[in-house]
Amino acid sequence: MCGIVAVTGYRNALPLLINGLEKLEYRGYDSAGIAIVNPEENNLICNKSEGKLIKLKNNLSQQEIIGTVGIGHTRWATHGKPEVKNAHPHLDSTGKVAVVQNGIIENFLDLRNKLEQEGVSFQSDTDTEVIPHLIKKELNNLKKLNLEDNGSTLLVAVRNVIADLEGTYALAVLWADAPDSLVVARRQAPLIIGLGEGEFICASDTPAIANLTQTILPMEDEEIGLLTPLGIELYDSNNERQYRNPTSLKCSEQVVDKMNFRHYMHKEIYEQPSLTKNWIEKYLTRNNDSNNIRVNYSFDTNFLEDIERIQILACGTSRHASMVGSYLLEQFSGVPTDVFYASEFRYSPPPVLPNTLTIGVTQSGETADTLAALSMEIKRRESLENKLCKPNLIAITNRLDSSIGRQIPNIIDISAGIEIGVAATKTFFGQLLSFYGLAITFAQIKQSKTDNEINKLISSLENLPSLLEDLVIQHNEISEKLAHEFSEIKDVIFLGRGINYPIALEGALKLKEISYIHAAGYPAGEMKHGPIALLEKKVPVISIATPGKVFEKVISNAQEAKARDSYLIGIAPKCEGTEIFDYLMPLPTADEWLSPLLAVIPLQLLSYHIAAHRGLDVDQPRNLAKSVTVE
Ligand code: F6R
Repeated sequence: MCGIVAVTGYRNALPLLINGLEKLEYRGYDSAGIAIVNPEENNLICNKSEGKLIKLKNNLSQQEIIGTVGIGHTRWATHGKPEVKNAHPHLDSTGKVAVVQNGIIENFLDLRNKLEQEGVSFQSDTDTEVIPHLIKKELNNLKKLNLEDNGSTLLVAVRNVIADLEGTYALAVLWADAPDSLVVARRQAPLIIGLGEGEFICASDTPAIANLTQTILPMEDEEIGLLTPLGIELYDSNNERQYRNPTSLKCSEQVVDKMNFRHYMHKEIYEQPSLTKNWIEKYLTRNNDSNNIRVNYSFDTNFLEDIERIQILACGTSRHASMVGSYLLEQFSGVPTDVFYASEFRYSPPPVLPNTLTIGVTQSGETADTLAALSMEIKRRESLENKLCKPNLIAITNRLDSSIGRQIPNIIDISAGIEIGVAATKTFFGQLLSFYGLAITFAQIKQSKTDNEINKLISSLENLPSLLEDLVIQHNEISEKLAHEFSEIKDVIFLGRGINYPIALEGALKLKEISYIHAAGYPAGEMKHGPIALLEKKVPVISIATPGKVFEKVISNAQEAKARDSYLIGIAPKCEGTEIFDYLMPLPTADEWLSPLLAVIPLQLLSYHIAAHRGLDVDQPRNLAKSVTVE
């Protein structure tokens, strides 16, 4: 989290920084700030404000800041409250060194204590502030060495300082005495250099670069770079100069417009039918013989034939999609599958078993926990002699240009288009579709289902877009009305079973994150083992009851809630049994395998309308960020 942007060149830096920060605000919006070198006065101009970028823009609109080298930051608070004093850039005591950082410096307390003992006084509660003070100290030491020029001196100073930092960082550093230079460095946090003509931009993510250039040089882990308008010097952790060719951005900057919607999230929910249509066109190919359908991947799938088990690593909403995926892969395709919280897997992985496929699922492609869990898994498997235990990898992401897109060769591209709303909706849907594709592929490989059964699922998927179109329109209206009933509600319980248990979890997560109402999802059969104690009149229960294996069971579980006076909302088709619901959000009757793709729509829309009705900031809910790049 946190977005960094840094520029050096010949143009005025301020508009470039602001434009870049606008594209990075999804990474955090607790505060924003910039620092620009003022070459005439040999100092830095720094401006920061609490809250969203618009506040900083308003502050800056009264000022004329001239300077071609600068850094900017949009913050998601880790250490220190979202206040101006904790906003980046952070300066040393002379105000000549400025630093923006993304990540967490784990040993900052030790470093801070030492600096304080030496007389340094700190202005913020952040972990970052130790960095400019340490750099200044290092610059003072280096002065004695009389290095070639001030840019190189800054590079050496930053290199010496990062050697003492523990934790993760992407950082950009300015020094007023090196007015053309920028130093950037990264460890386990993304940083990409964009190569313009006579100018360079460095940012946490490609949208901040795309406006200026399509030519990029993603920094590798542990690299440090010196950027001036004349060129780039990149070094690895052994101080070896690195030379490699730049690449082109994989996706051009997409113009994202809210159209007539009040919020991006609402628009993104509405995009799900067309996204499904595109997915079918992209991934399902019918050979001449119309019974022979294959899922199209951009990589060779031969290695899947030897796979005997699957482990999936993901966080949050991506984990919920993975849980539906796991259900499909086991129940439809017959492959044993486990889903792990990436953050837990990292520190307590299961024993290594042979012929295992590891799937990393992350819409942003930047989630630190997922990336770290994948790297750990790759390393531990590569260190083994046993060839059968070597890593077999797939990543499911919406961002080909992300860290995961660069790290894992076998990518399943969700192709959902950029998602702006912080709460994931259409990318969740795209992840679900990706798992349907994988389940079909594995069912064909393992012959776990007959051709007829597989083709039936494929036909149901092909019929989905028109069902979804109607569903979105119908439930938009229903949810908008129902949202009024939630004005005084403080707790909501979501129930589901089997393939729809993860949808109950996702429904609860959506409601929590955008409406700030406490919500919890449970497997419906677990209610009676404890959570039932929560039930009373003021606690509505939303139950997903789709015809199939566990329909009657879910209805009985709903009865148990009704007997405790809960207001019962059913996400279910209008059919025998569903009359027990106080309110029915109707689903079309469809193949049980497809039910998650239908059931999630009313839940997304209901959460959206509840939050919008409460007048909340739906697209940028408090405390959240779209891309979670800290552990
Ligand atoms: C919820 C949400 C988060 C993300 C999670 C993982 O709406 O968006 O729970 O799903 O932070 O993010 P990615 O998929 O980018 O790894």
